[in-house]
Amino acid sequence: MPTTSPIAVVTGASSGIGAVYADRLAARGYDLLLVARRIERLRSLADTLSEAHGIQAGIIEADLTEEKSLVHIEELLGSDERIALLVNNAGNGKLSSTGDMSDADTASTIALNVIAPTRLTRAVLPAFLKRDAGAIINIASVMAFHSLPITTLYSATKSYVLALSRGLQGEVSGTGVRVQVVLPAGTATEFYDHAGIPLSAFDPAAVMTTENLVDAALAGFDQGEDVTLPSVHNTELWADYEQARAALFGATQVGIPAPRYLVNS
Ligand SMILES: NC(=O)c1ccc[n+]([C@@H]2O[C@H](COP(=O)([O-])OP(=O)(O)OC[C@H]3O[C@@H](n4cnc5c(N)ncnc54)[C@H](OP(=O)(O)O)[C@@H]3O)[C@@H](O)[C@H]2O)c1
Repeated sequence: MPTTSPIAVVTGASSGIGAVYADRLAARGYDLLLVARRIERLRSLADTLSEAHGIQAGIIEADLTEEKSLVHIEELLGSDERIALLVNNAGNGKLSSTGDMSDADTASTIALNVIAPTRLTRAVLPAFLKRDAGAIINIASVMAFHSLPITTLYSATKSYVLALSRGLQGEVSGTGVRVQVVLPAGTATEFYDHAGIPLSAFDPAAVMTTENLVDAALAGFDQGEDVTLPSVHNTELWADYEQARAALFGATQVGIPAPRYLVNS
C-alpha cells in the first residue's frame, strides 16, 4: 500500500547504532530505507519493524565504498520527495597505527567514513533546501576531537565528519533544514569485532548500550541540538571547548608572525 509517511534513510542499519535508529524512527512513524551490505539482516529488520510499527521498510544492499552503490543511493536521495531524514551512520575503523594498517583498510575507512557521507549529503541537500525541510544526522565520534596512536586514521575521518557537519549547519542556518552531528563514545556494538580490539578490552563502565546512545541522540535532536555528546554530563565542557576554538581562530586573523617566530629581526 503506498503511503505518504516521511522516509528516513539509515546507512549501516544492519547492526548496532543504525539498527536501533531504524527501530526508533519506525516507532516515530517514518517509513524506512535501510542500507548496508548484509542483506539478510536488513530484510529481517525490515520485516520486524514493518510488523511492529505498521510502517513500510525498504532495503538496499549497498557497499558504500563502491561507486555504483553511491550513485544508486544518490539518485534516490535526489528524486524521492518523501525522503525527510538521512542518517549517515555507516562507518568502520581498524584500531591500529597508520603504518600497521593495510592499504585496503585505509582506503575503506576513508571511503566509508568520509566520501560516503559527503556524497549522500550533497545528493539530498538540494532537495531538502528546495522543500525548506528535512534533516541530516551525521554519526561522528568523540574521537573527532581526540587522536590516539591506534586511532589516527579513524580520528581523522571523524574530525572530518564533525567539521563537515559544523560547516553544513552554517549553510542551512535560517532554513527549515537541520543538521545534527552525534559524537558517541564507546558503545556496545559489533564495531569492535571489526576494529581488531575486542569490546571486552575496554572498561565496561565507560561503554554505553546502543539503545541508550540512540535514545539520547534522538532526545538531543528533539531538543534542537546541533552537536550531541550523549555521554557528556557537563554541557559547559563543550561550550568552553567551542569558545576556546573560536578565540583561537580569532587570534589567527592578524596577518603577522607571532614575535616568537621573528628570530632574525
Ligand atoms: N561503537 C562505538 O563505540 C562507536 C563510537 C563512536 C562512533 N561510532 C560510529 O557509529 C557508527 C555505527 O557503528 P556501530 O558502532 O553501530 O558499528 P557496527 O555495529 O559495526 O555497524 C556498522 C554498520 O555500518 C555498515 N557498514 C560497514 N561497512 C559498510 C560498507 N562498506 N557499506 C555499507 N555499509 C557498511 C555495517 O553493515 P554491513 O556490514 O552489513 O555492510 C553496519 O550496519 C559508525 O559510524 C561508527 O564509527 C561507534
